[in-house]
Order: sequence, then structure tokens, then C-alpha cells
Amino acid sequence: MTDLKRTQLFSAFDENENVKHGLPSAAYTSKDFYELESKLVFAKSWTFVGFAHDLAQVGDITPLEVAGQPLILVRSSKNKIRAFHNVCRHRNLKLVDKPRNCKSLITCPYHNWCYNLDGQLRAAPFFGGQKTELPKDFKLKEHGLLEVPCELFHDWIFVNLNCDTVSFESHLAPLRKQLAGIDLDDFVVVVSIEFGEIKTNWKLLMENFIEPYHVQFVHKNTTNQPLVDHYVVSDGHCLGSAVDLTSEQQEQAQEGTLSVSSRYLTLFPNFVLGVYYPDQIGVHLNQPVSAGITCQRRVIYQHKDSDQSTEAVEKISRLWESVHKEDHAMCERLQEGRHSDAAQQGGFLSPYWESSVRSFQELVADAIRPALNH
Ligand SMILES: [Fe+2]
Repeated sequence: MTDLKRTQLFSAFDENENVKHGLPSAAYTSKDFYELESKLVFAKSWTFVGFAHDLAQVGDITPLEVAGQPLILVRSSKNKIRAFHNVCRHRNLKLVDKPRNCKSLITCPYHNWCYNLDGQLRAAPFFGGQKTELPKDFKLKEHGLLEVPCELFHDWIFVNLNCDTVSFESHLAPLRKQLAGIDLDDFVVVVSIEFGEIKTNWKLLMENFIEPYHVQFVHKNTTNQPLVDHYVVSDGHCLGSAVDLTSEQQEQAQEGTLSVSSRYLTLFPNFVLGVYYPDQIGVHLNQPVSAGITCQRRVIYQHKDSDQSTEAVEKISRLWESVHKEDHAMCERLQEGRHSDAAQQGGFLSPYWESSVRSFQELVADAIRPALNH
């Protein structure tokens, strides 16, 4: 570990102080730290990877990368999305390189080994010599694609590269508690906004969403949600904040600003869901690309009975594009600031408004710590 010393990482976590440090800058800039996160956070969690509506038809297949490993998501039947390692069992070629519909077979372009949508190997032509001949003792059924646990919550796809882990339901439990009273089946996709690559570490986008402290300053022209009306949400790995506004406050707010009661919720490590009462939900997909780059997308859902006219959807999109760009500008500057020697100890966190950011960082630290202790 070249640029990441044990003492440098955890000296920041002084439990006896009221005002605590954030994670040191190396946690955001170091390639070594990023690789440890891939192995110990993203490969060991229920990682959020995509949206089921992107795989609407049976046979729709898409490649993705989780913790540096190539995977595929495929809709194998009407109600089932499966995840597999994106690797042919023959010579380990990456099977799928772009989203498409593969009909009923996933075919390796190298030697035409064919797998069905459940990952079973159906043909390995000429492998034993002649067209349908197989080598002695070689059984197709023993050489299917390697499956990765994959679960769906509403429109949201999660995978887990670690086989003995907490159940998906346990993982969702604290979020379900926060969403009590909301029937997610009543919400439909209205728009997807691709932001592409943001020049910031994935944690800074998560931390920025978790804390409400910046909203009054960074989003003063796009939102109308006073800080004092917020409260912190901190329930294990479900972190965020919420704000309750009176109908009077909502009526007085400037037209076109976000001025409704809202829930800003995350599930560690990378699932982000906002509820904007009474009729809107937004979900962010934050996909780490490297220590300093994260890909981001927002999908917006509206209640099925709400106004989904082109005009209404364009208005919603414009608002959220502005809000995200305001956040991206800050997150990119947070990243730049972390290249300074002055940032080594990680700055300070508000014990009131950023305690949930600290909790998020402790989840990261707890995951990484075992690798630094030997
Ligand atoms: Fe923000």
C-alpha cells in the first residue's frame, strides 16, 4: 500500500471528540483504496446495478461491471432477471459487449458456444471433433454460465458477488420501514436522465445526498426546503434525511422550485432514493468508474394518476438537471480539494447535520479496516 498508511486512514476516527473528522483524503483519491472498496464493499454487498425497465423484453441482455468484474443482466422470463459472470466457460471471452436482445440464446462469438437465458450450456460445436461431438466425460450441464445472486425491488436491480451474505430482505428492511405507506406499484417511469461521468469519487455523491446541510446554499434557486425543517435519518445502513413542510410553506414557495415534503434515503453502498410527496420518486444509479470518476443516472417515477404530459415531464427534468448540476459542481470541487496536503485529515463533520455522513464513512471504514490490519 504505497499512498495509504494505516495511521493516516484511521487517525481521523477519534471517537472521543464531539466534532469528528471525515475520512482522510486518500480514501477519495487513492487507487489502492478504490481497489479495496471494490473487493470489500462492492463485491460484498447488495450493490445497486440497474433498472428492470431497461430489460423489458425476454432476451434483453446488458453488460455491466461490478467491483471490476464483467457481469451480464438478462431477462430470462417475464418475471425474472438473472445475473451471470459475463465470461464464456470455454476460453473466458467476455460474452456480451453491448445491450441488445439475444432472443433465446447467448452465443459466444469466438467458437459459438451457446447458453440459454437461464445460463445453461446448450451447445459447444465441434468441441469434441465433429459438429455435435463432445469430449468423453464432458457434460454440457456442468458448464453453464456462473450465476450471481440478483434480486429485484420494484424497478431496481441489485446483485451480490459474495455468496454468504445477508438476505436481500434484511438488506431492504430499513428502507421498507421508511417507505411505509407508499405503494411503489403505483409509480411509473417517466424519464431517465443520463449525467455520464462526474469527476468525483462515488462516496462524495453519496455523502452529498445524505446530508441536508448544503441544500439551502447550493440549491437556493432550485429548492425551498428550510434546513430547520429537516431531520436526519440513520438506521444502520439506511442513511439520509427528511423534511416535512406545512401546506402553507408549500404554497408560499416560489413556482418551479422543489418545495414539498421529501425523504432522502440511501442503502449502503450505492442505492439512492428520493420521495417527493405526494407523487414523485427519483432514484440515482451511482456507478464508480475509478477513484476520481463516477457515472450517474437519475430515473424519475411519477404516481400513475399524476400529470405525465410532455410539458409536465420536461419541467420535472429541467428542475432535476439543475439540482444535479449544482451538486456535481460541489462534488467535483470536493474531489479537487482532496488533492491538497491540507485535506489529509478529512475536514470536519457537523455533529448535528452530518452525523449520517459520518455513519456512512464508518461503514466504508469498517469494510476496509480488516485489509489494513495485516
Ligand atoms: Fe444537493
